[in-house]
Amino acid sequence: MRATRSGDGNLININTEGFIMSDLTRSAAWQALQTHQATIGKQTLREMFRSDPARFDKFSLRLDGLLLDYSKNLVTAETLDLLLKLARQARLEEWVARMYDGEKINGSEGRAVLHTALRAPRGSRITVDGRDVVPDVHRVLDQMRRFSDGVRDGSLRGHTGKPFRDVVNIGIGGSALGPLMVSEALKPYGSAQLAVHFVSNVDATDLAETTKRLDPETTLFIVSSKTFTTQETLANARSARAWLVDRLKSEEAVASHFAAISTNFGATSQFGIAPDNVFEFWDWVGGRYSVWSSIGLPVALYIGMDNFEQFLAGAHAMDRHFREAPLERNLPAIMGMLGIWYADFFGAASNAILPYDQYLQYFPAYLQQLEMESNGKRVNREGQEVDYATQMVVWGEPGTDGQHSFYQLIHQGTRLIPADFLAPVISHNPMGEHHAMLLANCFAQTEALMLGKTGGEARAELAAQGLGGEALEALLPYKVFPGNRPTNTLLFERLDPRTLGMLVALYEHKVFVQGVVLDINSFDQWGVELGKQLAGKLLPELQGKQPLSSHDASTNGLIKHYLAVSGK
Ligand code: F6P
Repeated sequence: MRATRSGDGNLININTEGFIMSDLTRSAAWQALQTHQATIGKQTLREMFRSDPARFDKFSLRLDGLLLDYSKNLVTAETLDLLLKLARQARLEEWVARMYDGEKINGSEGRAVLHTALRAPRGSRITVDGRDVVPDVHRVLDQMRRFSDGVRDGSLRGHTGKPFRDVVNIGIGGSALGPLMVSEALKPYGSAQLAVHFVSNVDATDLAETTKRLDPETTLFIVSSKTFTTQETLANARSARAWLVDRLKSEEAVASHFAAISTNFGATSQFGIAPDNVFEFWDWVGGRYSVWSSIGLPVALYIGMDNFEQFLAGAHAMDRHFREAPLERNLPAIMGMLGIWYADFFGAASNAILPYDQYLQYFPAYLQQLEMESNGKRVNREGQEVDYATQMVVWGEPGTDGQHSFYQLIHQGTRLIPADFLAPVISHNPMGEHHAMLLANCFAQTEALMLGKTGGEARAELAAQGLGGEALEALLPYKVFPGNRPTNTLLFERLDPRTLGMLVALYEHKVFVQGVVLDINSFDQWGVELGKQLAGKLLPELQGKQPLSSHDASTNGLIKHYLAVSGK
């Protein structure tokens, strides 16, 4: 084994056969899992359930009203033992303590990672650089309560004295997806007097279509941006400001119709937002982990601060569980290690998120940022190129719509796609047989994915339909389902604020587990920064303010075509 640098400047280890190997893939725990996979790969879930009637009890966990059934995974007790050995080899429990204690574990940005502090109860103590941040967190929560109560009870009004009826959040990425997903998920708790809207895309259509039906006198804009430098957000905020000033014929109106959420106070005041309407958060809160901070203000306005605090309390309950439960009974640890099992030992490239709850329609999109921006990395914490798979592609749609679209591939395609099914036991909308039908679909799908349909079963079914001979044989291959498709099922009593907080924190910690074990920094996002730089450089060329610089032939061709067709 020798260490050298790749052409890209990354440190790499090369084994005696000339293959690149990291400490992780050389480790005893990793190698043991590789050996074990060869035996598990030959077993089927069908057999595993047949030979062990207690499998559900062994491989399910409960926390408050939440049930995780992970028994339909390609695992035995030995698999879990080996997976948790890998987690312990990575010192997972120590890393959890380091995160909760405010250590600067985001190495490439030199920052602490303390979204857990955002839901810490008043009176607890968490320090960053010697400063207890919990009082700061609660000071901002109190400010959010005053503001949201004022807007909701009509004591805070617009420039012309009318109460607010619409809130428009202007932000992107972590400054949009969290509040959007939570507002939708908690719609049953939402105000009937106040609607929330989300504008994120720099495509003017987003803002234009949103403002089309709004009354400027009763519209409140919240500009959400951790950095307050994000091009898309600032462009939308400037256009929203112009829309308001133009309609109300008053520059002063901005003071009562705009609020901002940012870590960058200089930039918010430059934009003209009244200091009382600026809500702080801190650089130890990552964008995609920020819905618990003042970034959650649109949610607090919509569902009220008491409900928002329930959402925080649910997350805090999950934080305690993650820190205190032994790995064997630890939901995020189990889910995180199962993901690694499929990504790294079965070659699974994607992970489907399938909520059987219409209110969770944005949950897959939310998890896309949370998981892929966090762990979609190719070098480890030491700057070495990794020789193993990191983040799977995350995607999904609510059931049962997905069943009539892409489930075909999950059942009979050539790829193994582990899937998470999420469903409430009790619906917010009890209407006839709908909920029983929904859950029947959910349970039937995980059962079918697990069992599949053997050739013998398919043959018997076709014969029962009166088919035989060549016709039956010709149809048979299409009717066979290999099964053995792994799924998790997360059942919760009802999608209330506390439960949603638990669910979101569960996935946050799952991401953390995977980052620690895969030895990557889950809390930076340099890949996204590249796009920001490049778009900034190209814009003046599209505006005709700068001559076309020498891009590659394709990019030059596209720019020239745009300039020619648009007449710029
Ligand atoms: O998409 C990259 C990113 O930096 C995200 O991490 C962040 O959530 C988003 O942009 C928005 O950034 P800001 O809140 O600073 O406008």
